[in-house]
Amino acid sequence: DWNSGNVIEEQVARIREQVGSARVISALSGGVDSAVSTALVHRAIGDQLTAVFVDHGLLRKGEREQVEQDYVASTGVRLVTVDAAETFLGHLAGVSDPEQKRKIIGREFIRAFEKVQRELVEEAKAEGEPIGFLVQGTLYPDVVESGGGAGTANIKSHHNVGGLPEDLDFALIEPLRTLFKDEVRAIGRELGLPEGIVGRQPFPGPGLGIRIVGEVTADRLEILRDADAIAREELSAAGLDGEIWQCPVVLLADVRSVGVQGDGRTYGHPIVLRPVSSEDAMTADWTRLPYDVLSKISNRITNEVREVNRVVLDVTSKPPGTIEWE
Ligand code: XMP
Repeated sequence: DWNSGNVIEEQVARIREQVGSARVISALSGGVDSAVSTALVHRAIGDQLTAVFVDHGLLRKGEREQVEQDYVASTGVRLVTVDAAETFLGHLAGVSDPEQKRKIIGREFIRAFEKVQRELVEEAKAEGEPIGFLVQGTLYPDVVESGGGAGTANIKSHHNVGGLPEDLDFALIEPLRTLFKDEVRAIGRELGLPEGIVGRQPFPGPGLGIRIVGEVTADRLEILRDADAIAREELSAAGLDGEIWQCPVVLLADVRSVGVQGDGRTYGHPIVLRPVSSEDAMTADWTRLPYDVLSKISNRITNEVREVNRVVLDVTSKPPGTIEWE
């Protein structure tokens, strides 16, 4: 008989036993899994835990604040934020190939995280405390996908959390290993986490970096961030979050088309809306959104976001189209 209260109690006891007096590090991504696993570990061992949030500059509007303010307020977790936006942008300069972008973002994420990890190891040593555990928000489907075995959540760690540095021999704490997503959400709510985090739709680890078709630049990120925020706001306001699995908003940065605004012709970029309905992201269909909602999103984006003069709707199912454009 499943009950989120019981799971929390059980996991808290288990984590305390596993960790003892050691210090623990956790990577927060802004997503549900890392938020809930981190909160569970914090519930168990309090300030023995340090959470690390790498801001790679590819986040959506308000996401950093959501973690730094709302998440910290609701959990009391000790948080270290790494400001890595400029480093990431520097490495992404001139890169348009999607797989190349993913590689760079993954590699830089691991670098940034490892740097903090080493600092925390030094700090713990100086204070005479053992340190040696990493939290991972591995879910049951991740375990199955990567072939079972302890610490084998490579797919997830590769995309979202970063692998383990070989010379830093950390053991994993994976309190969500037996759970499915909806169970994880229930536990997050029981732990009092912000609904904006617990109810969040899937968002890829490389973030907006793979939603700009073309090179990623600070200007382009700003355009996309604004357009994405408008789409999310209007979809939520229309009560459509439950119907949509996720809705990538994509900037076709290398495409320009002619438009007219006021008295003049414009030469701006198109924004693509990609609302999909899905059970597991393996297959998907495009969501039949109400025309008035689409119209509102389109009007607002073209009025409020500079350099965007056209909004288009992606009406492709998966297969053949993937959910993301890159
Ligand atoms: P596609 O585009 O392959 O996406 O239909 C399926 C699901 O995976 C997400 N996705 C990613 N998630 N890192 C991630 O963490 C990635 O590189 C990545 N690429 C796609 C996508 O958002 C969708 O939920």
